[in-house]
Amino acid sequence: ATLNIAVIVGSLRKDSFTRKVAQSMIELAPGSLDMEIVEIRDLPLYNQDDETEHPPAAFTAFRERIRRADAILFCTPEYNRSVPGALKNAIDVGSRPYGKAAWQGKPCAVVSVSPGALGGFGANHHLRQMLPFLDMPCMPAPEAYVGGVAAKYDGNRFIDDGSRAFFQAFIDAFAAWVERHAR
Ligand code: FNR
Repeated sequence: ATLNIAVIVGSLRKDSFTRKVAQSMIELAPGSLDMEIVEIRDLPLYNQDDETEHPPAAFTAFRERIRRADAILFCTPEYNRSVPGALKNAIDVGSRPYGKAAWQGKPCAVVSVSPGALGGFGANHHLRQMLPFLDMPCMPAPEAYVGGVAAKYDGNRFIDDGSRAFFQAFIDAFAAWVERHAR
């Protein structure tokens, strides 16, 4: 059976490098994974006052979509050595109501992306800090700090054959991780 993977992209930018990397991972994924980007751009900012019997429709739709997924692939840029607010917001939205987090138990992996040399290390690890609290088994290795990303793409075309093998190994390891940990 194929496993449904929700891919969360932490950038809202139209020409986002992080989205391109997510797309490359999707293209390289083995047939056992059915991967789809789940959009976060229309989620209102999380406000606990909205947690009534009728939360915002966008919250409900997002939570239901995440619940349907067998696993999550987080792809994030780095903003000020952490995750962008839009990604933090999506994680917060999916984490409530208390005790009913949509994320609960979903295996996951983290890919950080940057045009800079450090590959979004800070964002990667700030994101990893949230995962035990959400009860999400996160693939420890291989780690993916995708630095110098601008040189890897010509438009949307992935032109870095050196990192293609790494992307392939990463997504294959993720598939194995999900097989082992999906509930
Ligand atoms: C950045 N950028 C950035 N890059 C980085 O490597 N470390 C950082 O801490 C930051 N901080 C930061 C803050 C803010 C507010 C912005 C807008 C940008 C640069 C960032 O990596 C670059 O804009 C990427 O292109 C963003 O990813 P996407 O949108 O291309 O996926």
